[in-house]
Amino acid sequence: MQTLHVDLGERSYPIYIGSGLLGRADLLTPHIVGRQVAIVTNETVAPLYLSQLEAALQGYELTSVVLPDGEAFKNWETLQLIFDGLLGARHDRRTTVVALGGGVIGDMAGFAAACYQRGVNFIQIPTTLLSQVDSSVGGKTGINHPLGKNMVGAFYQPQAVLIDTSTLNTLPARELSAGLAEVIKYGLICDEPFLAWLEGHMQALLDLDSQALTAAIARSCAAKARVVSADERESGIRATLNLGHTFGHAIETEQGYGVWLHGEAVAAGTVMALEMSHRLGWISASERDRAVRLFLAAGLPVVPPAEMSANDFLQHMAVDKKVLDGQLRLVLLRQLGEAVVTADFAPEILNATLNADYAAQLERLVN
Ligand code: NAD
Ligand code: GLY
Repeated sequence: MQTLHVDLGERSYPIYIGSGLLGRADLLTPHIVGRQVAIVTNETVAPLYLSQLEAALQGYELTSVVLPDGEAFKNWETLQLIFDGLLGARHDRRTTVVALGGGVIGDMAGFAAACYQRGVNFIQIPTTLLSQVDSSVGGKTGINHPLGKNMVGAFYQPQAVLIDTSTLNTLPARELSAGLAEVIKYGLICDEPFLAWLEGHMQALLDLDSQALTAAIARSCAAKARVVSADERESGIRATLNLGHTFGHAIETEQGYGVWLHGEAVAAGTVMALEMSHRLGWISASERDRAVRLFLAAGLPVVPPAEMSANDFLQHMAVDKKVLDGQLRLVLLRQLGEAVVTADFAPEILNATLNADYAAQLERLVN
């Protein structure tokens, strides 16, 4: 097992990474204060892992809340089901909410923990690659609004993150690829040597090689922990973690939540950010193509939806959380391994990026 730390003063917490950790009561109990624990999970994850976790927590007064599965349920109505479960079983202010599932469950359970009786303890047990490398670390919690992704939420840090890499054995291949989008992201924004490592290990990751997965998860979490420790509330460098997300969130919102997976939208969105960085003269065509090939090797889409117009993108991008005083800011790459957040670009470059022929680019790369 590896243990990393997110350093946030009195809100610091460990990230445990290893195989078979789900049943490890010794890792969970130090982070539980009261007698009560509420596990929040969903209909897909519950039959796979809930009983194992319940067994590890058998000494506690346990409530399990099983939510419907899917990004489309990341909303107020589903959040209310968590409060129904907590209040129905009379959970008090010393209860601990445990999120067991992917990023949707982690974001919603974390937001519920932030709100319930004005804040209770919270532990993340992420079971998708995406949630293990990204969403479970850093304390961003929340739900979607029909007009914008993750638009309602809170910064609320967990007491601990427990990553059991063996849960990935049941993850559908499409979801594994979606998680790889966020793994590749760390290489692009702050760890250029990691890109070469990923090029050499992509097949091992897709084959669920345990050593390769653990290495990729630990390196990703270490990068995330560094960034979050430096800028918890996203007043600066943390925004670089959103490479490709402004374009990607526009795709997710326009298509309807859950039609494109979050990681898929981030992949296509990052290809757009790469294109724009190239058009600004910051990265070369071969650097752009190298990154696009990595997304392709991970089985990810690199072409935005054909039916989305530049105007569709601009409408959604106008409500991005990086918009300040009406000004759109984007995460772009100065070079591979160095991201910047900038509003300093000519509108024509953004327009050319939104209108670029990504299908032709794909055609050229695969032929
Ligand atoms: P998800 O939570 O929808 O999980 C994907 C699918 O895999 C679901 O059907 C889920 O039930 C299933 N699943 C989960 N674990 C499984 C397992 N071990 N075996 C089999 N099936 C399993 O999606 P996700 O990709 O994990 O997370 C995406 C969400 O995370 C989005 O809502 C996104 O906005 C959010 N997110 C948040 C942050 C953050 O910092 N808070 C960062 C990135 C993404
Ligand atoms: N996933 C972006 C962040 O945590 O800031």
